[in-house]
Parts: sequence; C-alpha cells; structure tokens
Amino acid sequence: MINRRKFIGAATAAGMMGILPKSVRSMGKGLSVRRELPVIISTWRHGLPSNDAAMKVLEDGGGVLDAVEHGVWVPEADPENRSVGLGGMPDRDGFVTLDASIMGPDGNAGSVAFLEHIVHPVSVARKVMEDTPHELLVGEGALQFALEQGFKKENLLTPGAEKDWKEWLKTAKYDPVINWENEPNKYHDTIGLLAVNKNGDVAGACTTSGMGFKMHGRVGDSPIIGAGLFVDNEVGAATATGMGELVLKTLGSFLVVEFMRNGMSPQQACEAAVLRIVHKLPENKKFQVGYIAVNKNGETGGYSLQPGFNYALYQSGKNVLLDAKSYY
Ligand code: GLY
Repeated sequence: MINRRKFIGAATAAGMMGILPKSVRSMGKGLSVRRELPVIISTWRHGLPSNDAAMKVLEDGGGVLDAVEHGVWVPEADPENRSVGLGGMPDRDGFVTLDASIMGPDGNAGSVAFLEHIVHPVSVARKVMEDTPHELLVGEGALQFALEQGFKKENLLTPGAEKDWKEWLKTAKYDPVINWENEPNKYHDTIGLLAVNKNGDVAGACTTSGMGFKMHGRVGDSPIIGAGLFVDNEVGAATATGMGELVLKTLGSFLVVEFMRNGMSPQQACEAAVLRIVHKLPENKKFQVGYIAVNKNGETGGYSLQPGFNYALYQSGKNVLLDAKSYY
C-alpha cells in the first residue's frame, strides 16, 4: 500500500510529467526558506572529512570551485577508500580506471572518464574545463593530457585492492550488490560534493573508480554532466551515487535541478528523481541510487532507492552524517 509520503512524492513527480490536473501540479511549489550559508553537502561517510576540507577552503577565503575540488581530494588520496582514486577497486581485468567531473557557478564544466594512473582525476577534469575547448576527455587521451599538464603517473592498485580483486577472481561473478557501499572501508561508492558559498554561488564535483570489477571500458554516470553532477547557479546543484546506469538512463542530476527550477525543494526534487527511476526502469528493485541536492538558499535534501544511503551535511558550524529516507 502506498503511504501518504510516497503519494505526495508520486503526485509531485507525476505532476511534473503533466499527468495530473493543474491544481495538483502546483503541489511542489512551496516557499523556499533561506538557510545559513555557506553549506557543503556530500555523499556517504567519506563526505565528513571531505566537507571539512571544503569548508576550510571557504573559511580561508578560497573560491567555491577550489572548495569542491579540495573536498573530494580527501577520498581520492585515501588508499583505504575502495571506490575513489588511489586504492579504488580495479575492473575485472585488474585496471583501476577513474571517472570524475567538476562544474562551477559560471556553467562551465569539465570531465574525465576511463582515466588510469592519476590520483586526482577531479583536478584533471578541472584542467579540461579551464585549459581546453572541450568538456570531456577519456582514456589514453585523458592520461596524455594529464601528463602534459604535469600530473604524476602512479600505480593506483594498492595491495588491499589487489587482494580483493584476486579474491573476486575465484568466482568472477559480476553481480552488483545493493549498498556494498556500506561495507566499512571497502566499497564506499562515488563521492559527490556540492557547495554554496556565502554569496550564494554554487559548484560541485564528483569522482569515483566506478563499480568494482566492472567491464574494462565501462564508464558510469559520474563524469557525465547532467547524470552524475549538475550545477545551475540560478537554481542549485545535484549529484548522484549508486548504480550509474540507472542515473544515466534518467539523466538524474539534471532532472533534480530542473525539478528545483520548477519550484520543488531539494528534498522533493531528489524524491521525484528517484521516482522517475522507479517508474521507468524495472531493474530499479535490484540496485541502489542516491541523490543529494542543494538550492541557492542553502536548503538541502537527500533520498535513495534503497535504505542505507547516508550523506554528510556541513551547515551552521556543524558537520553531520544524515541517513537519507528511501523509496523502498
Ligand atoms: N555512480 C558511480 C558509478 O556507477 O560508476
């Protein structure tokens, strides 16, 4: 039986799709409440130290783009984190391949995908944004560009990740598990981090080694602007975590931002985007997807398909881990 909360979410999303009468379609248009700025919000427990690093940049007078980049450097450089940067899970053939994106208040964006050997793919993404006429570089070309820019080539396959991969090879069963992110220090998924500075300027970054033991060449949602990350300085920002294929097929982060543009709060917008997955993609029951969002007023939200998703919120002097509500 659908409960009231789910009905309201469903009604709002259906309204945005033009299914419901006009009177019901206005449900999502609430008054926005101004919250304290700056605010930083990021996915999963690894968001806590990332938020600290991002907030420090803002407190020291740095820019909002620097804040999101420095924030996600923390898990990228952590060899114990199995889903981002150094120490990330390899693909089924033993290669650690990274996806990352960054987007700023001016609407400019940069991404890299299927990039090997670079600890901070988000910084290569920023270079793509700032120093090339392009938005996305992939694979060998992205690595060549990174090396030309002075990034160091490193082995990202740590002994711990190699051990896990060799263990996996014994069965070599590719079966993504809901909330594998929650195995301590093991599979934590993507970090997506969004920031609004005290002037209301918005930026975001998203970085991951993608699904553990993915097919060689697989790229997820994180480097695709509109899927894993989207920023619109007139509205706010959103980012995604979980099974990237579902996010890609619904262009999830763009959808969240557009829902906010049309009057939804960040919380309502995240719920409506998850509902879109539920309505459109029957495989949704088997996977996890989580969204977080922030608007220019500093209101935030987070929601997921399955229970178990959490996110870190730094606002009004406190950095806390929050459990997201979920559809199931
Ligand atoms: N959300 C990360 C990925 O699917 O690669």
